Amino acid sequence: MDFLRAATTEARPQYKVILYPENGVALSVKSHTELEIGFGNGEFTVQYARLHPDILLYGLEISQACVLRCARRSEGLDNLRIINTDARYMLKELFADETLTRIIMQFPCPWSGSSNAHRRVTAKDFAGSLAAVLKVGGEFYFVSDDEEYSQEVKSVLGSHEALELVSFEINPSREITTKYERKWLEQGKNIHVLRFKKVKAFTIARQVMDRGMHMKIDRKVNSQNIESLKNVTGRNRDNKTFWKFGRCFTDGKTFLLETLTSDDEFEQKFYINISLRDEGSLIRLDRTANAFLTPAVRASLEDVSQRLSS
Ligand SMILES: C[S@@+](CC[C@H](N)C(=O)[O-])C[C@H]1O[C@@H](n2cnc3c(N)ncnc32)[C@H](O)[C@@H]1O
Repeated sequence: MDFLRAATTEARPQYKVILYPENGVALSVKSHTELEIGFGNGEFTVQYARLHPDILLYGLEISQACVLRCARRSEGLDNLRIINTDARYMLKELFADETLTRIIMQFPCPWSGSSNAHRRVTAKDFAGSLAAVLKVGGEFYFVSDDEEYSQEVKSVLGSHEALELVSFEINPSREITTKYERKWLEQGKNIHVLRFKKVKAFTIARQVMDRGMHMKIDRKVNSQNIESLKNVTGRNRDNKTFWKFGRCFTDGKTFLLETLTSDDEFEQKFYINISLRDEGSLIRLDRTANAFLTPAVRASLEDVSQRLSS
């Protein structure tokens, strides 16, 4: 993570990386704000932001290496913000309803095979997330070289109550093309471009809470108590939420418990801070945690509190 930290707006104002958006607070938007999901090395992203200085452009990308590559390209741009996160889970958490004019997704991995189906844009609630954060009249712009995947997107998103397929074109001329796209066209592959419009209001439940969370217990804990949590796991009934505790680090007064959580496969790794007080102990997320307060994170804190109380 350190190389990314060095690319944040704080460390290098010329780079446009938001390392960790403020917990649970929807990102600020302008009247015309667009989002690109999975921008890769940022070739399109940076050209697009340069060509449209009046648009505020966000980019969400799961790969840290890609975020850094795009950050390096983005020097001098004021209208681009890039965030290293999993768009499947975080799209609805980072943006409020009706805030984006356009969402762009180009050449996502087709994830063929049923075991990978959950990673596709057509999986589960993703259409609902798109439909919630787009403005009415706003556009989802999807590009793929994979015919089967494009047909699936057409049918799944096109049948969502708040989205309407506007066009399905093959090899239309486009304002900006990327290296891979030009290569595929040279190889004779077709490029499928799908446009969807949001036609009516839609919302989706958010999971992340925006308040800090801490708990007090009466007992003054010791290293042995915390060590006993190592490798303890928990999950909720529907199996969507999972947590696991790892190693513990301490200076004798404060204990840092390594914790891994997963919400619908959105993973976070952080420390739970347990500190001794005059009467009892205080349990909270460590300041370095940078974790969103998802249901799994809340459950892990409650689990620590319950186990250490008894
Ligand atoms: C095949 S690349 C395409 C990159 C770029 N759009 C282009 O046209 O060159 C797909 C990109 O999506 C990113 N990606 C995959 N799953 C993602 C997710 N859940 N959230 C955000 N980005 C994701 C990958 O890291 C990768 O950079």
